[in-house]
Amino acid sequence: MSSEKRPGTMTTSGSWSGRPAGVPGAVPPPSVPLSFLMAASVGLIACGVAWAWVRRAAAANPNSDPAIAAVHFGVLAALTMGILGATHQFAAVITGRPLRSVLLARATFVAWLAASWLLPIGIGFEQTAVTAASGGFALLGLLLLAWNLAAPLSVRGKGAPVTALRLALLGAAATTLLGATFVGDRQGNWFVLSAHADLAMGVLGLFAWLGVTYIGVAQKLWPMFMLAHMAGRHRVGTVAVWATWLGAAVLAGGLAHGTLVAEWAGAGALGIGLGAHLVSLWAHLRHRRRKADLHVLFVVTAAAWLVVAAGLALPGALLLPHHYRTGVALVAAAMVASGGWLLEALVGHVHKVEPFIVWSLLRSHGLRSGPSGKPLMFADLYHHGWAAATYGTVTAGIGALCAGLGASWPPAIAVGGALLAATGALVAANLSARPLHLLAAARTGTDLPVPAPTPPARVH
Ligand code: HEM
Repeated sequence: MSSEKRPGTMTTSGSWSGRPAGVPGAVPPPSVPLSFLMAASVGLIACGVAWAWVRRAAAANPNSDPAIAAVHFGVLAALTMGILGATHQFAAVITGRPLRSVLLARATFVAWLAASWLLPIGIGFEQTAVTAASGGFALLGLLLLAWNLAAPLSVRGKGAPVTALRLALLGAAATTLLGATFVGDRQGNWFVLSAHADLAMGVLGLFAWLGVTYIGVAQKLWPMFMLAHMAGRHRVGTVAVWATWLGAAVLAGGLAHGTLVAEWAGAGALGIGLGAHLVSLWAHLRHRRRKADLHVLFVVTAAAWLVVAAGLALPGALLLPHHYRTGVALVAAAMVASGGWLLEALVGHVHKVEPFIVWSLLRSHGLRSGPSGKPLMFADLYHHGWAAATYGTVTAGIGALCAGLGASWPPAIAVGGALLAATGALVAANLSARPLHLLAAARTGTDLPVPAPTPPARVH
């Protein structure tokens, strides 16, 4: 139980002291991904509060500044922070190579944290200097991220997941540069920004950056979490990665330049990529040897949001030229459903990934047994009933927000916001309460009056 070394601190080899056997040497200290994931939960609370706050302005005009502020609490403070946490962890796991530097990772965290909060605050409260600062922090965060990840991502022959992370880095660069240009424009209104140009940023950020990261990393995580090992190379995964990224890039280019052919060609390729992602999920589900569990429910529901997004985007795009208001409302709802795809997947995977990371942290502090006295299991580290409740709040929250924006109905937007805020609070509390309790008990050497754990899950 005791720990003579300071667990979690770095050794000269880039590894960290106290790292338990079985955790690959390239993996960064737990504090790196955990800081991003905790920030994502707090960002989700802010996102929910912001939507409830701006419900009327957002219902009247989804392109208004209050709505743009709420959007960025969602896409930056919640989604980007969560996906960046996963990227720092899995770039090292997938490639088997460490990040260039843990210090760089911490600086990246601070830069993106500042960017993701200052941008919506600056836009929401009309503080141009604060908005400008956010653009600076985002550019800094991008540089640090690219410099740090270039080391592990230069590895050869690791397949679709590494390709996806490389493409995601390009997507991050495109999104951030476009964002910094938009921020620059807000200093002096130099050019007219159409709703189409705004949409281009949404497509780049959601699909060419965050989405392609999830699609690639899922190729690594699904076989593990579902015990679904497929013989040979899984080509559909590669198609999903490339077509999603290329489709998003062409669609965004078409939207930004107002080129209809590029818009439809890009949308078609994006549809193929996302379709391949769904086919890949179907193949994993069919080959899985683990019984259906909450993780599967999260992942399947996440996929369903993609179908909802397509079902809203198509009529939205067709209606836009003739019935502008209805078209904008439907497209806004489609963007929420697309963000919902990633949010539902993130919340679901975090209940698998974070206990694993926390487990290695607890082991590095010398903890060997769980509350029942048996060997410490991942399943001991959170309450499964609360996790199920979180599934309910996040799913209903996305649904209400989608309906509220689609029908321009403020009460539904407010309910969606409240449920998303509740989700952020539930995830943060549920995934940290038991580990903190175990740590405190380990430090003081007291018995552990933790409620009886649910039966340990078999985790590979
Ligand atoms: C994953 C990343 C991102 C996504 C998905 C995203 C998405 C969006 C969307 C959907 C809009 C339109 C919102 C609406 O009309 O209601 C928008 C606008 C905007 N975004 Fe982002 N964004 C991302 C990152 C960034 C970054 C990094 C910055 C700046 C550093 C930024 C700055 C802006 C600005 C200033 C606008 C408003 C443009 C205007 O004046 O109309 N975004 N973004």
